[in-house]
Amino acid sequence: MNNQRTALLIILLLVLFCNVVHTQETVNRITIQADSGEYTINKNIYGHFAEHLGRCIYDGIWVGEGSSTPNINGYRKDVVEALKELEIPVLRWPGGCYADIYHWMDGIGPKEDRPTIKNIFWGGVIEDNSFGTHEFLDLCELLETEPYLAVNVGSGTPEEAKGWVEYVRSDENTPMADLRRKNGREDPWDVKYWGIGNENWGCGGNMTADYYADLFKRFSTFCWVPYRIAGGGGNDDYEWTETLMEKTEGNKNLIQGLSYHHYTVAHNWEEKGSATDFGPGDWDLTIRKNMEVDKMLKKHLAIMDKYDPENRVALIADEWGNWHDKEPGSRPGFLYQQNTLRDAVTAAIYLNTFNNSCYRVKMANIAQTVNVLQAMVLTNDTELVKTPTFYVFKMYKAHFDAVMLPVEVKAEKYGDAENDFPALSVSASKNDKNEINITIANVTYDRDLSTVIEIDGLDNYSVRKSEIITAGEMNSYNDFGKDEEVSISEFKGIGKEGNNIKVNIPSKSVLLISLIK
Ligand code: AHR
Repeated sequence: MNNQRTALLIILLLVLFCNVVHTQETVNRITIQADSGEYTINKNIYGHFAEHLGRCIYDGIWVGEGSSTPNINGYRKDVVEALKELEIPVLRWPGGCYADIYHWMDGIGPKEDRPTIKNIFWGGVIEDNSFGTHEFLDLCELLETEPYLAVNVGSGTPEEAKGWVEYVRSDENTPMADLRRKNGREDPWDVKYWGIGNENWGCGGNMTADYYADLFKRFSTFCWVPYRIAGGGGNDDYEWTETLMEKTEGNKNLIQGLSYHHYTVAHNWEEKGSATDFGPGDWDLTIRKNMEVDKMLKKHLAIMDKYDPENRVALIADEWGNWHDKEPGSRPGFLYQQNTLRDAVTAAIYLNTFNNSCYRVKMANIAQTVNVLQAMVLTNDTELVKTPTFYVFKMYKAHFDAVMLPVEVKAEKYGDAENDFPALSVSASKNDKNEINITIANVTYDRDLSTVIEIDGLDNYSVRKSEIITAGEMNSYNDFGKDEEVSISEFKGIGKEGNNIKVNIPSKSVLLISLIK
């Protein structure tokens, strides 16, 4: 009996020992080519999107000059301050679906004379047009951000679009420029980016790609602006990309960008899944779908490469992010959702993906800035909450206009046997101070990943700083009236082994490692 017990104990110890050895051997490896960057990560990849939807514009950004909420000329003060902290490079407005019902002339001139508009897409609310062209473009000046306007193709006319361009950009004595002066603005606004419609396969008019491509060319012919962005397809609609690229091949002077929208919905459009009340299963579904963005994006890019080998037309990912169920009790059609650590990891995955394809991805605009979908900030009457996604955008400022460095990732697998991904999402860049910034997401909710980072082409560097976004639970989030659960903190776990970095990357985290020679 005793002998049997001893034998069992020995077997148990052997099993334990093998497991320990196995765990120690499972080393993930990231290789960064520190001296071979070719393309710049356009800081506009860190762009934003503010639509007339729910409480994004009205109540979120715009409270009006007479409001008791602290404001700067009508713009909510705490929101302006938070957005300034992010140095948001570009802001898209007025939609979204709203762009194709918006008539810009209703939003200029004395506020009391402006007609109302029923927002048929979002909650059916009646808006008073108190936030219009002047209010948006002045906001962009306040935030020191580039505006990106979307013109109405679905229910508008080329003449209306042409008039808006003239109103905004002309410094001559044209009727529209004179009207702008009459409305109090002497100098034109230098608006470079103009979207020609939005999702014209759906809310923007339910058009075929073929029909829209012709309309795009028609509208673009009358919109003399530096940068015209054609409405693109969504997720895996390669047909739309193919048609748009093919039909504009001979008119490259008319198209500078093709838009692309990609939303991640964990389950389905009817029941997407809760933003906060989820477990490992929903984490998996969401993260796997986030990781698939790379594959889909590359297919769209390959189509663009085929028709545009000289790389003149950029891919503009002007709507992206996680789309969850609305918060219980919030108004239907307002798309108000909370934002957890899972959303932070999502943001890191998308942003790493865009960085790594920055040869053609020149702008991206997360949906949306305030109180809608995967927002930067949430507000109530008196308070503002910075979401976990806010902190990813703050951390990733390190990549603004830096040269993207090629990265190779050999990591443990995440996902199932047929559809697996590396459990680490990574991008890296070198800025004009020769600092190298590496951003990494450990996309697992339960596995710390022992990792070696090899820096090829750079010796004798030191670690300038390292930061982490993580929290106790996969669904930790920040909320009104509570201390923050998710934010950026210093990360002390960086070691060096020869010229390599050794780091045990905590599960469900986003990391920034900054190196300097
Ligand atoms: O961002 C919310 C909506 O999603 C936008 O209005 C539309 O373009 C997309 O379908």
